[in-house]
Amino acid sequence: MATAHRSTIEMIDALRTVLAKVERPLTTQELLELASRLNIPASQWREHLTFDPHQFSHRTIYESPYFEINVIGWRSGQFSSVHDHRGTACCVLVLDGVLTNIDYQRDAANELRETSRFDLRPGEMLSRNDWEIHRCGNEQPCGVDLATLHLYSPPLRPLEERQHHGYLIA
Ligand SMILES: [Fe+2]
Repeated sequence: MATAHRSTIEMIDALRTVLAKVERPLTTQELLELASRLNIPASQWREHLTFDPHQFSHRTIYESPYFEINVIGWRSGQFSSVHDHRGTACCVLVLDGVLTNIDYQRDAANELRETSRFDLRPGEMLSRNDWEIHRCGNEQPCGVDLATLHLYSPPLRPLEERQHHGYLIA
């Protein structure tokens, strides 16, 4: 990615303009650098924020052969499934609320084991790629919503191909 323009990105349209000029997938590090330039006010992302009473709700705000950018709304208790990111660099930016991330590894018996668990707050970022296995979501009390911005490069493969079964969510 060209390094000439490092200015802060404060509008979703400005983000779309930056991405439209990129004609290859970005590495995880490049995606993190791009996400670190984002300072998009709530007035910009709230109009794309949706919620679903049954599962997290995503709205795609940009899509190209090299990127997929989603705004995701999570009600209390809503989590992603356990999944990996093979072939895709992923960066999550917390917009509002608290994101809980849980990482896993497969042990010698090929069972999924939790290896780390931590929270991220507004402005904090998480990146995962390739074979790293995790799930994330909103573990906050009832009534406390979570909003996140997800950058993927290239776009995600279908979840069915990336889902890791064998882990029972209590
Ligand atoms: Fe993920």
